[in-house]
Amino acid sequence: MTDRYVVFGNPIAHSKSPRIHGLFAAQTGQDMAYETCLAPLDGFAATVTQFRATGGKGGNVTVPFKEEAFRLCTRLSERAQAAGAVNTMNFSGDEILGDNTDGAGLVADIRRNLGMIITGKRVLLLGAGGAARGVIQPLMAEKPAQLLIANRTEGKATALACEFSGCAAAGFTDIDGTFDIVINATSAGLSNDALPIAGSVFAPGALAYDMMYGKATPFLQLATAHGTRCADGLGMLVEQAAEAFFVWRGVRPDTGPVLDLLRAG
Ligand code: ATR
Repeated sequence: MTDRYVVFGNPIAHSKSPRIHGLFAAQTGQDMAYETCLAPLDGFAATVTQFRATGGKGGNVTVPFKEEAFRLCTRLSERAQAAGAVNTMNFSGDEILGDNTDGAGLVADIRRNLGMIITGKRVLLLGAGGAARGVIQPLMAEKPAQLLIANRTEGKATALACEFSGCAAAGFTDIDGTFDIVINATSAGLSNDALPIAGSVFAPGALAYDMMYGKATPFLQLATAHGTRCADGLGMLVEQAAEAFFVWRGVRPDTGPVLDLLRAG
């Protein structure tokens, strides 16, 4: 019997995950199917229960259910606990294992695909919501020289920095110094809003990374105007999927050809 997986979300129709996992499955010869699953906004748990009852093996979780999935899981990986959110669930008997592969995906994309070493670098993380929280522990595990969390609402950055030892916090207007890696984890790009940060935050040779993909956000436009190398979040999307695939199947797909195909359209 073909093992079945889904991505739960709302909305979900435009998710690239079925294509990515379909390519991974073909590449590795895994007998599995992967589809989207639209869960009602007030019916995430019931939708998961129904999918498990019909023999579903696992699922990814996306907006807006990652925190609810965190509460639903019966066991959590260390990285899911640190993230306070779950993007990967594995169903086994009565157990729902919750994991979070987003941060590992970001780190893998920066290191492997973009060839940038995080260790010893000055990293600026913009945003203090769920997306930012999900990547802090994996970034800190790389031992950057500095991780500064900056946010529009400074108090949220301060609260987040308190949860992870070694991080500092700032408001956007009092970011001090220059950074080798600047990661935009805010949702400002969705509404095309510019962030009130100066182009001088980018050190020479820096990488500007937007966790959004498929769009030249005002953040990336600022970096481009400053002559800074840019990356969007498509590589992170593929890498977090590869990490989820490994959780489910114990096999690591080769992400390079899949990323190339997605970039080609
Ligand atoms: P997500 O799950 O995408 O992280 P979230 O938890 O709602 O969503 O967090 C959104 C983040 O984007 C927050 O850091 C938010 O800043 P505030 O904490 O000050 O609200 C940030 N954000 C959203 N819109 C923004 C904008 N127009 N300018 C600056 N920051 C913005």
